[in-house]
Amino acid sequence: MKTITLPVTPGKHNLVNYEETYSNFDWKDVEKEFSWYETGQVNMAYEAIDRHCETARKNKVALYYSDANRDEKYTFLEMKKLSNKFGNVLREIGIKKGDRVFVFMPRTPELYVSVLGTIKIGAIVGPLFEAFMEGAVRDRLQDSGAVSIITTPELLKRVPVTELPELKHVILVGNVEELQTGQVSYRDAMAKASDKLEIEWVDRQDGLILHYTSGSTGKPKGVLHVHNAMIQHYQTAKWILDLQEEDIYWCTADPGWVTGTSYGIFGPWLNGASNVIRGGRFSPQDWYSTIEKYSVTVWYSAPTAFRMLMGAGDEIVKQYDLSSLRHVLSVGEPLNPEVVHWGMKVYNKRIHDNWWMTETGAQLISNYPTMEIKPGSMGKPFPGITAAIIDNDGNVLPPNRMGNLAIKAGWPSMMNRIWNNPIKYQEYFAIEGWYISGDSAYVDEDGYFWFQGRIDDVIMTAGERVGPFEVESKLVEHPAVAEAGVIGKPDPVRGEIIKAFIALRAGYTVSEELLEEIRNFVKTGLAAHAAPREIEVKDKLPKTRSGKIMRRVLKAWELGLPTGDLSTMED
Ligand code: WTA
Repeated sequence: MKTITLPVTPGKHNLVNYEETYSNFDWKDVEKEFSWYETGQVNMAYEAIDRHCETARKNKVALYYSDANRDEKYTFLEMKKLSNKFGNVLREIGIKKGDRVFVFMPRTPELYVSVLGTIKIGAIVGPLFEAFMEGAVRDRLQDSGAVSIITTPELLKRVPVTELPELKHVILVGNVEELQTGQVSYRDAMAKASDKLEIEWVDRQDGLILHYTSGSTGKPKGVLHVHNAMIQHYQTAKWILDLQEEDIYWCTADPGWVTGTSYGIFGPWLNGASNVIRGGRFSPQDWYSTIEKYSVTVWYSAPTAFRMLMGAGDEIVKQYDLSSLRHVLSVGEPLNPEVVHWGMKVYNKRIHDNWWMTETGAQLISNYPTMEIKPGSMGKPFPGITAAIIDNDGNVLPPNRMGNLAIKAGWPSMMNRIWNNPIKYQEYFAIEGWYISGDSAYVDEDGYFWFQGRIDDVIMTAGERVGPFEVESKLVEHPAVAEAGVIGKPDPVRGEIIKAFIALRAGYTVSEELLEEIRNFVKTGLAAHAAPREIEVKDKLPKTRSGKIMRRVLKAWELGLPTGDLSTMED
């Protein structure tokens, strides 16, 4: 196959020679970058914020924030003091090391202060996407046994406190008229708290953050990451994001998803970079003006966003000064070659694709500024990472053969466990020595990895990972729905959209209103992004004899493909 490669980006880059570095790399050398290497005292938030306050970076801007109503900036020293205060607020109400503390609020400076303060006292942060509805919030707080949540008065309606006996405190950010028992006003508590804090020093394997993510079966699973992940957050942000002292960095992901924490908080701040946070929703005008306003140099986003920007046209790009950009990256779903070529045309920049997952904690495969890009390829493994394509028996396959994308287990940011679910955790490591990603891919003769698809039924819609089971379970809670099967349907902009096939209960007839009602039921019960964009009503859904919905048959119907082996299907 002939591919056009894009030449390396000229200029000064942190990773100069990929091949040579890959052969000589040792994670142990990265440990020397941290203060705990000398002191033995470990805490991610200390390394990300406080450590810089002992250097000239103290007065450097750590966080630029703006939304429709606010325009603020905070230095590293200010972030240190604010997160100290918040650590004290949590200690005051009795939060201890290892407790699960959730943050459920829009992207604002208070969210970042809460995350850092929680980590400083050794508690485990659980970030929740602000669009989650009651059911999604309940599942996550229940499973993790959360003791505290930081949220806003508006979002509090979606926190079913009476069903959460372990939840002791609600910290409210924003105007509160009257506090109920167990509630704390963020503003009042922060005003009283001291800005000096004794940091809780932890073990490198102690819990840091709990991200819930979707699989193809069961409820969302809590992926626990530990402080040790900082080794990889730091080094990947240095070599893949290529962060340098003068950079203004913008990661567009919400901290409710792993990209928004690993590369919206930890990676950039461990490297002492200035981090831009833009509140509010996506619009091409708003995004381009954010780059212009802050003179963003490094921009990390996702294929859906680039496709939407592409859809907005080339003309609008010319209305903004984007000349500050020097490095553009993408993650989360396949990045189409045409988008990469479009990026060259309109931004005159290569878009650097990279691959990783919630479970992996940090980037594993990437395109580097000093490496040729083959558009459509995810790039090559990070130094210190062994990636391979293996068959179901664990044999490593030769180039150009499709199989399981697998990683040699034991990289620094690998998940530590699945909360409450050791069996699920073991499933990832079913083949001795390897982590099985659930993605299929192949590697070409030059060592570039090419994504082929998910092996399970997980849906990636607009960069967000949705488990079909969760949506199906919600659908059948609706009184009209007898059974439901949910698939990802290919979509030119969103990658996939959620399509549901349902069978109605006796006594119900199909109507536009009913379908809209069912859609809204999922939207308000789970989250807007989890609601099916399309619903098709069938008399009956294809099931195995054991009653499992056969999603691959639904997918074949949808795509007009042969349905394959139906021997397990019920009559
Ligand atoms: C998919 C997001 C193609 C993949 C950081 C993976 C990708 C899942 C890429 C993890 C990429 C991620 N090309 N597909 N560059 N990056 N994926 O946990 O299927 O939300 O397994 O983590 O996204 O999604 P998650």
